[in-house]
Amino acid sequence: KKVVLAYSGGLDTSVIAKWLQETYRCEVVTFTADIGQGEEVEPARAKAKALGIEEIYIDDLREEFVRDFVFPMFRANTIYEGEYLLGTSIARPLITKRMIEIANETGADAIAHGATGKGNDQVRFELGAYALKPGVKVIAPWREWDLNSREKLMAYCEEHNIPVDFSGGKKKSPYSMDANLLHISYEGGILEDPWAEAEEDMWRWSVSPESAPDEATYLELTFERGDVVAINDEAMSPATVLETLNKVGGANGVGRLDIVENRYVGMKSRGCYETPGGSIILKAHRAIESITLDREVAHLKDSLMPKYAEMIYNGYWWSPERKMLQTAIDESQCVVNGKVRVKLYKGSVSVVGRQSDDSLFDEKIATFEDDAGAYDQKDAEGFIKLNALRMRIAANKGRNLL
Ligand code: ARG
Ligand code: SIN
Repeated sequence: KKVVLAYSGGLDTSVIAKWLQETYRCEVVTFTADIGQGEEVEPARAKAKALGIEEIYIDDLREEFVRDFVFPMFRANTIYEGEYLLGTSIARPLITKRMIEIANETGADAIAHGATGKGNDQVRFELGAYALKPGVKVIAPWREWDLNSREKLMAYCEEHNIPVDFSGGKKKSPYSMDANLLHISYEGGILEDPWAEAEEDMWRWSVSPESAPDEATYLELTFERGDVVAINDEAMSPATVLETLNKVGGANGVGRLDIVENRYVGMKSRGCYETPGGSIILKAHRAIESITLDREVAHLKDSLMPKYAEMIYNGYWWSPERKMLQTAIDESQCVVNGKVRVKLYKGSVSVVGRQSDDSLFDEKIATFEDDAGAYDQKDAEGFIKLNALRMRIAANKGRNLL
C-alpha cells in the first residue's frame, strides 16, 4: 500500500515513481540522499511533487557516509579483487538503512529501487532491506516491466507527461555512472569492449597523469584510531577530509582505475573508476599501520581483508559476519595514531615519511650501527636452528636432497 523509492530525480527513477503509482496503485514516498554525488538534491523535491508525490524525503548523508561507512571500511585497507575501492558498494548499505528508517516512519511496507536485474546494486539494496526489516516487500521495476529500451521509456514519458528534460538540459552521458564522496564510476558504452581504452573526456574528477603539474604536491595526514582527522595539521570532519583529498588528488591525476571485475551475479563487467581521495587514504593508512601495528595483527588483518571486501562488494554489510570482522578491525585501530607524509606526482601517491607516539619502530634495535647491546645477535643462531629443525629431520630422512 505504501512504498519508499530511492529517487535520484533523474529520468529512470521518475518513470519508476509513476509506474509504481500506476501498477501497484500505491502511495509512493520518495527518498533522495546527498552522499556527495556533486549534484543538487533539492530539485528532486519539485520533480517528485510534479509526479504527484506527497511524502518527500531529502537528506544530507555526507558526514554519516564517510564516518560510518567509508572510514570503517578503510580501517581494513579494503580493496576488491586487488583493485576496486568499493565506492558504489559501500554507499548502498547507507541508502538502504535510510530507506528502511523512512519506511518505518511513514508506515510503508515496501521499498523500490532503480537497479537492474543484472547487477550488484539490486543485491546490496535487497539483502540490506531484508536484514533490517525482515517482512519488507521489494519492488525492482527493471526486473518486472518491459520498458527495456530507451524508446519504450521515452514513449512511457510521453504518455504520462513526464518531462524528458529531467537531466537539467545536460546531454545524457553515454555511460552508466554512479558518484558519491568516495568515487565516480563509469560502465557501459564503449567500455563494454574490454580492449577499448576509455576516452580522455570520460573522466570527470581527475586530470590525466600526463597533464598533471610537473611539481609534486606534499600532504601530511594525521590519523586517530585509524581515521584521518586532519590534513596539514588542520582538523577536518570526515566528509571534508575526503572532499579535500579528492580535489588535490584529482588535480594530480591520482586515483584512476580501469578494470574488469566479477559481479556477484556471475558475470564479468568492465568499469572505470576515479577514487582520488580514497587512493591517498589507503596508501597513507597502510603507512601509519606499518609503524604502529604488531606484525601478527597486521598480517591477520591482511589475510581477512579479501573476505571483508567480498562481503561489502556482495552486499553483506548488515550481516553478522561483517559485524564480527568489523569489531576485530576496529579493536586493532586503537594504536593507529600519528602522521604520514605523502607526495602526489602525476598519478602516483608515495609515502615519504611517517611518525607516531605509538610507534613500535625502534631505531636502537634496527640500526646498522652499534646498537649498544639492544639486540643480541647471538640469539639469532638458536632461533634459526630451531626453525630449521623439522627440515633437518626431513633431510636426514633423505627428503629434499639435491
Ligand atoms: N561495478 C561497481 C560495483 O558493483 C559499480 C556499480 C555502479 N552502479 C551503478 N548503478 N552505475 O560496485
Ligand atoms: C545496475 O545494474 O543497476 C548497475 C550495475 C550494478 O549494480 O552492478
